[in-house]
Amino acid sequence: MKLRHPDAARQISRAAIIGAGQMGLGIAYVTALHAKVPLTLHDPSPSVLSSSLKRLDKLFERDVEKARISREEAEAARARITGRQGDGTEGGLEGEDVDLVIEAIPEIPDLKIKLFSRLSALLPPPTILGSNTSSISLTRLAAAASREEGQSLTNTNEGNAQAGRVVGIHFFNPVPQMKLVEVIPALQTSPETLERAREFGKACGKEVTTSADSPGFIANAILMPMINEAIIVLEKGIATKEDIDTTFRLGMAHPMGPLALADLIGLDTCLHIQRVLLQETGDTKYRPAGLLVRMVDAGWVGRKVGKGFYEYD
Ligand code: CAA
Repeated sequence: MKLRHPDAARQISRAAIIGAGQMGLGIAYVTALHAKVPLTLHDPSPSVLSSSLKRLDKLFERDVEKARISREEAEAARARITGRQGDGTEGGLEGEDVDLVIEAIPEIPDLKIKLFSRLSALLPPPTILGSNTSSISLTRLAAAASREEGQSLTNTNEGNAQAGRVVGIHFFNPVPQMKLVEVIPALQTSPETLERAREFGKACGKEVTTSADSPGFIANAILMPMINEAIIVLEKGIATKEDIDTTFRLGMAHPMGPLALADLIGLDTCLHIQRVLLQETGDTKYRPAGLLVRMVDAGWVGRKVGKGFYEYD
């Protein structure tokens, strides 16, 4: 494909992924295997980091067993991933020559805003600052990247360069299986950044769609109300969880029903997304079901803890 912007042709030759939860590890996997880009995977929790690295070993091993890739390819891909404890900003990325950072930390606006502000101080443009956010405004994250210690750089050359390299690069769970990346430009994102993000998504083996920076973008503006309605149907006692999910699996040919899908995404993540959607739009269609809130309060947040609407080994 012919690239419209000369800067967009610059290869991503080194990346960093911040957050080694289920999304971060999946992004690391496709980046190392398909895009063939060496990367560091950062997480503040040593136990999350070490279990993610073990999970990566297993994913590569299974690819070899299933003859999808050779042992040499698996070893080369695994060798491209280095785990590093921390959130990337302290004793992490300073002085590193990375072309792309993707954060996949929890879907909490204040956490992401702080991270973008610290990353922008640490890594000068043109390093792309990507976010795997499912719902948070990229424009707000880009604004955070163009602020220095409380000082706004808006409308300065430096501020525009800082904000212009921020972009949403939204993967889907489980990342190795889902064939989509949603790319979301902030109002400030430069055309070069947008194009490089789209090219990166394709290099990871994904179809790429583009959404304006609107609450929930394409996917979650539509998916979250569906999941929430399914929880309300359960809460009202209209049907069992099994019948709700069977309706979607057999009646609409979805690979899994909305309650099983909520367990896969994580009920905490679903709640965070819905709170952002409600706050951003003021539209009560995004008000989280009471049962969702209570399940998160109980810690029953889905597959990752072994219990959500269903139980898992
Ligand atoms: N995590 C990681 N990998 C998983 C998995 C999980 N929870 N569940 C299944 N897989 C893997 C399996 O290990 C298997 O991999 P291999 O081929 O390497 O062995 C592969 O997926 C297929 O699994 P199965 O044959 O056991 O099961 P399946 O054919 O029913 O597929 C599925 C499982 C891929 C999860 C399928 O049910 C599906 O596509 N579900 C819908 C998922 C979906 O909608 N994801 C998007 C969520 S929205 C989102 O992520 C964005 C957001 O912002 C919230």
